[in-house]
Amino acid sequence: MKTVILIGALGKMGQAALTGLGKHKVITAGRSGHVDHIVDITDERSIRALYETVGKFDAVVNTVGFCEYATFSEMTEAQWMTTVMSKMMGQINLVRIGQEYIADSGSFTLVSGILNKKPIPFAIADATTSGAIDTFVKIVSLEMPRNTRINVVNPTVLTEAWDVYGEMMPGFQPVPSTLVGKAFERSVDGFINGEVIVVDA
Ligand SMILES: NC(=O)c1ccc[n+]([C@@H]2O[C@H](COP(=O)([O-])OP(=O)(O)OC[C@H]3O[C@@H](n4cnc5c(N)ncnc54)[C@H](OP(=O)(O)O)[C@@H]3O)[C@@H](O)[C@H]2O)c1
Repeated sequence: MKTVILIGALGKMGQAALTGLGKHKVITAGRSGHVDHIVDITDERSIRALYETVGKFDAVVNTVGFCEYATFSEMTEAQWMTTVMSKMMGQINLVRIGQEYIADSGSFTLVSGILNKKPIPFAIADATTSGAIDTFVKIVSLEMPRNTRINVVNPTVLTEAWDVYGEMMPGFQPVPSTLVGKAFERSVDGFINGEVIVVDA
């Protein structure tokens, strides 16, 4: 049994990841609500406080990555920065700071999303930062210390989120949370490193 910090645990993707972490001790974290630890991934001090408070852990699974949606011509710099500081830098900082604290042979699992491979209108910032995270994971895996690993789950839309996103995504086939949970499980319990685990129908 590993100790896994699950960030964004109360969100739709967090709940999907949770279905794949059944055999582990899961410590939940998020920005609000009934979680074991409150954390804001856009704040370095908050990330460090999370790791300091938890102490010893074997894996970090992050499912947070807030994105703004607008057409390219309408998206402001502030909207770009909000997305970059959450979905891109927030996740990078979780790894950058977390590598100081994670156990030997531990793992990080991040989240991106299918829109960098199958674009839709209004999702330029989500797609761009998802692409950045896919690239970050592939390259940083070559530098991870102490036999630690890193992967990213790049899922299509969840069946459980179809009522929210379905109208924006004609021609997409949603997948159940439990299938996406398997991808998180494969990252945490497997030996893969530097992989973009695409989950699409
Ligand atoms: N849902 C899908 O079908 C799907 C598919 C592919 C990829 N994704 C990606 O997965 C990620 C999560 O999506 P989701 O559908 O799970 O969203 P969600 O249901 O809105 O959940 C997001 C969770 O993250 C928390 N959060 C937001 N900003 C945070 C921060 N700065 N620090 C800590 N926690 C924060 C939220 O807390 P609060 O409630 O306090 O705001 C919420 O619990 C996104 O990047 C999305 O693009 C989602």
